[in-house]
Amino acid sequence: MAEYSLSPTGEKFPLPERKDYLGEFERLKKLVNSQRDLGREIVVVMGVGFVGAVMAAVVADAENGKGNSTKFVIGMQRPSTRSFWKIPLLQRGISPINTEDPEVALMIERCVNKKKTLTATFTYDALKLADVVVVDVQCDFLKESLGNVKNGRADMEALEESLEIIAANIDPKALVLIETTVAPGTTEQIAYPIMKKMFRKRGITSDPVLAHSYERVMPGKNYVSSIRDFWRVCSGVNKEATQRVVKFLNEVINTDKYPLTVLDRPIESETAKIVENSFRATILAFLDEWSLFAEHNGVDLIKVINAIKIRPTHSNIIFPGPGIGGYCLPKDGGLGVWAYRHIHGFEDEIFKITPLAIDINDTRALHVAQLTRDALRNMGRPIASAEILVLGASYREDVGDTRYSGSELIVRRLTEMGAELRVHDPYALHWWEFEKQDEYPASSHSLKRFFRGQERLKDLRVEQDLKKALKGVDALIFAVRHQP
Ligand SMILES: NC(=O)c1ccc[n+]([C@@H]2O[C@H](COP(=O)([O-])OP(=O)(O)OC[C@H]3O[C@@H](n4cnc5c(N)ncnc54)[C@H](O)[C@@H]3O)[C@@H](O)[C@H]2O)c1
Repeated sequence: MAEYSLSPTGEKFPLPERKDYLGEFERLKKLVNSQRDLGREIVVVMGVGFVGAVMAAVVADAENGKGNSTKFVIGMQRPSTRSFWKIPLLQRGISPINTEDPEVALMIERCVNKKKTLTATFTYDALKLADVVVVDVQCDFLKESLGNVKNGRADMEALEESLEIIAANIDPKALVLIETTVAPGTTEQIAYPIMKKMFRKRGITSDPVLAHSYERVMPGKNYVSSIRDFWRVCSGVNKEATQRVVKFLNEVINTDKYPLTVLDRPIESETAKIVENSFRATILAFLDEWSLFAEHNGVDLIKVINAIKIRPTHSNIIFPGPGIGGYCLPKDGGLGVWAYRHIHGFEDEIFKITPLAIDINDTRALHVAQLTRDALRNMGRPIASAEILVLGASYREDVGDTRYSGSELIVRRLTEMGAELRVHDPYALHWWEFEKQDEYPASSHSLKRFFRGQERLKDLRVEQDLKKALKGVDALIFAVRHQP
């Protein structure tokens, strides 16, 4: 039986078969030949997810001082049932991401259909044509229990596999830029050896031109500008790699206004990313206990925070939502803690604050379930069989990204307590964490494993019609402050 990949709007795309690969590579070769004639560099972006799809478009949109496009970009994605649909959509010039920033869709449309500087493919053969490879695949962190990041581990599989495939295919002179958030030490101690070994196997005597520069993308209203018009940190494994990555980033992002920070070694750039996100996770976690203090004493914490923020030294204090999720903050500190032992070989326990912050953030949303239970009880209604509507499925406002969202924990806990859940979200058309909870985010890694009675959540569908969703509810939870 033919396998399909289903897009969020329900379009079915049959996965490519063996015979499709040859034709696809021929299509790319033709395109690349004509693009080289126009003097353009070929950039392959590996992994067209939330970061890669938009980064690919930013690179494809880049122009030189004379207004000419300088790069031709091929977004590359594995043809898995879960992700393949992104390829045919991108090929038509349709953004695979649903977001409040209108520039994402406009830029992808412009680059694919007007400038003709962007395409997408499922074949790794694209790597053979690349001058630059940008790696935007994921590097997950798997937790063994809820609220204990220390006993989790980095899941390097997708990344290691990608690096091996890249090294097996690329021209040895191609620049490989890892943008994935990795455990500090990965570029030099994991990626470089994998690639070098593959080069030697291919009889290549030169060393890989490998660099790291992390993304600071903020999906939401300023999605595109958070990639293009923002400061970047980078570093290469040697002088040549550093020069190449600096040249590349200068050509594709707005470094005139937002100068690059060039560090001496990739581990410095990798550590910067992890510390940056651990810092943010920590200030969010810090306010968890004060929000409980405020709740118990009738203090309006938002007023308190606004008062504090006026002081310039405290202007970045942020108020956490009902839950703290997203793909990055719950895992990035964990990658650092894990690296200390499993890449660098230390046995001592130096980390206290970083894991504690993640543990607090990971469980904060459970409190919302308690508040809902108590509010219903005060109205004389039991939580069991109560109809509850959660407004907002995603992890932050104005995006459709539902990964590890606080709302997921709210739904899971309330379901465990016997409530009937509904959800409304204008951006998330599907909540895969429930609809496909046996295989999402990966088989047996669903947060479902930490709760009981979760089977029926497979039938939970995101309601787009707010009026319909509201009909007859006993409780309403404002979980995410989306613009609508
Ligand atoms: N989402 C964010 O806000 C954000 C911000 C900064 C940094 N990052 C980091 O960027 C990286 C990517 O994050 P994302 O949010 O785009 O993840 P994502 O899961 O949306 O995208 C990763 C993509 O890579 C694909 N992929 C996996 N293995 C592949 C392979 N071998 N070949 C080709 N494609 C492959 C996946 O199918 C997926 O589409 C992560 O390290 C993340 O921590 C994310």
